[in-house]
Amino acid sequence: MAATYFNGFTIGVMMIVIFLSSFISADPDLLQDVCVADLSSGVKVNGFACKSNVSAKDFFFAGLAKPANTNNTFGATVTPASVTQINGLNTLGVSMARIDYAPGGSNPPHTHPRATEIVFVLEGQLDVGFITTENKLFSKTIKKGEIFTFPRGLIHFQINKGNVPAAVIAGFNSQLPGTQRVANALFASSPTVEDVVLTKAFQVGTKQVEKIKSRLAPK
Ligand SMILES: *[C@@H]1O[C@H](CO)[C@@H](O)[C@H](O)[C@H]1NC(C)=O
Ligand SMILES: *[C@@H]1O[C@H](CO)[C@@H](O)[C@H](O)[C@H]1NC(C)=O
Repeated sequence: MAATYFNGFTIGVMMIVIFLSSFISADPDLLQDVCVADLSSGVKVNGFACKSNVSAKDFFFAGLAKPANTNNTFGATVTPASVTQINGLNTLGVSMARIDYAPGGSNPPHTHPRATEIVFVLEGQLDVGFITTENKLFSKTIKKGEIFTFPRGLIHFQINKGNVPAAVIAGFNSQLPGTQRVANALFASSPTVEDVVLTKAFQVGTKQVEKIKSRLAPK
């Protein structure tokens, strides 16, 4: 069991590296070998300022090795491996994430404004989809060992309709893809979006809008 898990993981990582290295980066091109992010620098640049004392651990992260706890509202947990966790990714135009899904868990509709995403299923089975700017849905059931792609900026989702946990490894062509959850952006922003904007957009009454706002409010 451990052996098959490791093989799946290794193949997933290899596929993602192949994808990322053959892709035209969405992030700006690098101008030097390394520019490890100094997250504490007050200097504002496109990306992060470079720190001077660099070591191998700036390029290392073990945080995707194990399943994350999925006991939350959505029954799914995204563990990012972006420039925030791996400071050495600064200016390199790539990052990864792991997503774990409890049975019935869902990564709700969201976009990554700065990256295309490609996911490799480590365990279980997922129903996934993205919606184009012409409101066409592209959806598919994907299982262990299979891959699906979510084009940059398009709204997409994954749901685990199975009765066992599922997990994917995701690759992104940005050091910091950014995530905007559609429901949270509209109904749980700070300050809040005026009800009238949402009643008109969704063609419902104020009561329904207020109900959604209260459900999504940070607790
Ligand atoms: C550079 O980092 C190493 C290990 O993190 C540390 O031992 C050393 O003192 C640092 N050097 C400078 C000049 O900050
Ligand atoms: C899940 O979280 C809730 C609330 O935090 C807690 O009451 C419950 O015991 C947890 N369930 C498991 C299986 O850990």
